[in-house]
Amino acid sequence: CEHVISAKQFNREQLDRLFQEAGRMPMYRRLLERPLNGKIMASLFFEPSTRTRFSFESAMMRLGGQVISTENAREFSSAIKGETLEDTIRVVSQYADVIVLRHFEQGAARRAASVSEIPVINAGDGAGEHPTQALLDLYTIQTELGTIDGTHIVMIGDLTYGRTVHSLSMLLTNYRDIRVTYVSPPQTQIPAHVREEIAAKGIRVVETDDLVKAVQDADVLYQTRVQKERFPSLEVYEEVKGKYVIDPHMMEHLQQHAIIMHPLPRAGEILPEVDQDPRAAYFRQAKNGVDVRMALLLKCCL
Ligand code: CP
Repeated sequence: CEHVISAKQFNREQLDRLFQEAGRMPMYRRLLERPLNGKIMASLFFEPSTRTRFSFESAMMRLGGQVISTENAREFSSAIKGETLEDTIRVVSQYADVIVLRHFEQGAARRAASVSEIPVINAGDGAGEHPTQALLDLYTIQTELGTIDGTHIVMIGDLTYGRTVHSLSMLLTNYRDIRVTYVSPPQTQIPAHVREEIAAKGIRVVETDDLVKAVQDADVLYQTRVQKERFPSLEVYEEVKGKYVIDPHMMEHLQQHAIIMHPLPRAGEILPEVDQDPRAAYFRQAKNGVDVRMALLLKCCL
C-alpha cells in the first residue's frame, strides 16, 4: 500500500472506489466483520486533535485492528529528549502496520514516509495539507448533494493556514464543471500556488471578500476556523478573527438545497443557532470521518 501524503495523489477512479467502499462500512459494522484483526495502527499526534485521532482509532477498532498512540507526542514521546521525527518513524514502523501522523511542520508527513517501512497517513502537516479530511469532505458533498460534479463550493475564512482547504481544492480538480469561490480578507488569502494549480486544471476560481454575494448561488459553504496558532503575530490574528460569521441572517441568503460544512473545531465562526438548520451538515460531516477512514485503512493495511 502507498503512503497517503497529499490530495494530489488521488484520481477520480480511486476516489469513486474509496467512496463506494466507505458507503459499505455501516454494513461491515452490522456484520461484525473484523478484516484487520491482528493489525496495529500507531497514531502519532504532535498537535492536538479530537476528530482525526478518535475517528481513525475508532475506524481501526471497528475493523478489528488495535491501536497504539501518543497524544501530545511533542511532550509525551521521546521527541522531548531530542529524538528526530525520522528516528521516531524508523522505530515506530517496527511496531505497527500503519502510522497516522499529525505534525506541526509542513512537509513532515513526506519526511516520515521517506524513512518508514510501513504506510504513513498524513493527518495534517502544519499549514500544508490534511488529505483525509478532504476525502471525508468530498464524501460528505457526494452523500448530501448526490453529486460533486457541477457544484459551486465557497470556501471561507483562513485560507492561508487552513490546510483542509488546500487539500479539498486539489481533490476537486478530479471533478467536472466545478466553481470555487474563495472568500477571505487579504491577510488570509488562498496560497497562489493552490489557486493557480486548480485553475490550470479547469476549475473556475473567483477570489472575493464579499461573503453575502458569494453565498447566494453556493451549493456548499465551507467555513473554516482562523488558525490562531499559526499566525506570525497576534495582531494580524485579531484583525482577521470574527470577520466572517455564519449566523441565522446569513442563512437567509443560502439556497434551500445547499449545505454548510466545517472541518471543526469551530471557534465562533458558525453560531450555535445555525445548528438546528437542516442545511448545517458539519456534524454529519464529522461522522462520515469514520467510514471514510475505515475504507482508507482497509486499503492501507490489507
Ligand atoms: N477536522 C480536524 O482535523 O479536527 P481535529 O483537529 O479535532 O482532528
